[in-house]
Order: sequence, then structure tokens, then C-alpha cells
Amino acid sequence: MKLVVGVSGGSGIPYALSILRTLQHLNIETHLVVSSGAKRVMGAEGGVRLEELTASATHVHDDRDLAASISSGSFRTDGMVIVPCSAGTLAKVAHGFADNLLARAAHVTLKERRPLVLVLREDPLPRPVLVNMLAVHDAGATVMSASPGFYHAPGSVEELLHFVTVRVLDQFGLEAGGMRRWGETE
Ligand SMILES: Cc1cc2nc3c(=O)[nH]c(=O)nc-3n(C[C@H](O)[C@H](O)[C@H](O)COP(=O)(O)O)c2cc1C
Repeated sequence: MKLVVGVSGGSGIPYALSILRTLQHLNIETHLVVSSGAKRVMGAEGGVRLEELTASATHVHDDRDLAASISSGSFRTDGMVIVPCSAGTLAKVAHGFADNLLARAAHVTLKERRPLVLVLREDPLPRPVLVNMLAVHDAGATVMSASPGFYHAPGSVEELLHFVTVRVLDQFGLEAGGMRRWGETE
């Protein structure tokens, strides 16, 4: 299995690291693309370093490289997740505006009708974002929010990150493990 992981400039880049590390653990081939906005957020927020993201991916692509493998539908993948997905990247995907590799790879994923999952992180949600969310939903993408549930009684930030990781990987039919699901006994 081969997944594209896009990281854009929303707050919450630790979610991306959690997902990449879990995919690495599951032996899933990953193609990582990090936007310049994401690099800016990483610098401002601290916490996750770019090297940690790239070390957890199988292949890393430059966001300016519009000739990279993942910019073509002929390069077969099993889908793409953008986490976090900024409101700006959402707008690009909603309108087919592919001026960087991240947006182009998402556009390709939609046109090839492969699973595309966008994990938004923005609050409150203004009308343009709501409209764009509906547009990508109607185009076949799955819109998620980086908002972990609490019914599994998390005891740490890592468990909150893992909750979102589990729910994102569920969308690709992958079992991340390590979380008690609703209805499961301990
Ligand atoms: C510290 C910081 C935090 C940000 N957090 C968010 C956020 O949570 N959600 C969002 O949509 N944009 C956020 N932004 C704004 C985006 O990074 C900005 O719109 C950027 O142009 C998005 O570009 P990209 O989608 O190509 O990464 C943040 C910016 C900075 C500097």
C-alpha cells in the first residue's frame, strides 16, 4: 500500500508525525510533501521538527517540484491525507488550484477518484471555509477535524494524537491499534 501524506500550514503538526510514525510501523509506503506554510508553522510552534517528519516517511518530495511522481495520476497510490489541512490548502483543493505539489497531488487524488482525507484545523469556521468543505466533500473527499473524542478516557496528549490517527487511518481501512474503541471492553 502506498499513501501520500501532505502537511500544510495549520496548527497541529504533531498529528502528522503521529500518522507518519504509525504508517511506518504498519510498513505502509509513504510519500511526504510539506508546504512552505507548514514549515513556517513548525518554526513558530516548536515541538515537531521537519527532520522528524522526513525521517518517518519513505519518500520526501519538495513542495515546489510539480514534476514529482505524485503530481501525475499515472503514478498509482492508494490515496492521500492532508494533515493538518489549512484553510488555504482546502480552498486550493476545492477550486482545483494546483500551484504547489501538495495541492496538485490532492487534485490528482480527486481526479483519479482515490480516497482523499482532509484533516482541518481552524476555528471558528467562516462561510468560505464551510462552503469549501462542502465542495471537497461533494467532489469525493472526506473532511475531518482535528478534534479528538474523549470517550476512550485519554490520559496524555499522545493518546489524543493517537485517537485522531486511528480515525484517519480507519478511512483507508488500516488498523492503527492501541485504542479501545466504543463498545469494546477492556
Ligand atoms: C503559527 C501559525 C499557525 C497557523 N494556524 C493555522 C490553522 O490552525 N489553520 C489554518 O487554516 N491556518 C493556519 N495558519 C495560516 C496558514 O499557515 C497560512 O494561511 C498559509 O498560507 C497556509 O499555506 P499552506 O496551506 O500552503 O500551508 C497558521 C499560520 C501560522 C504562522
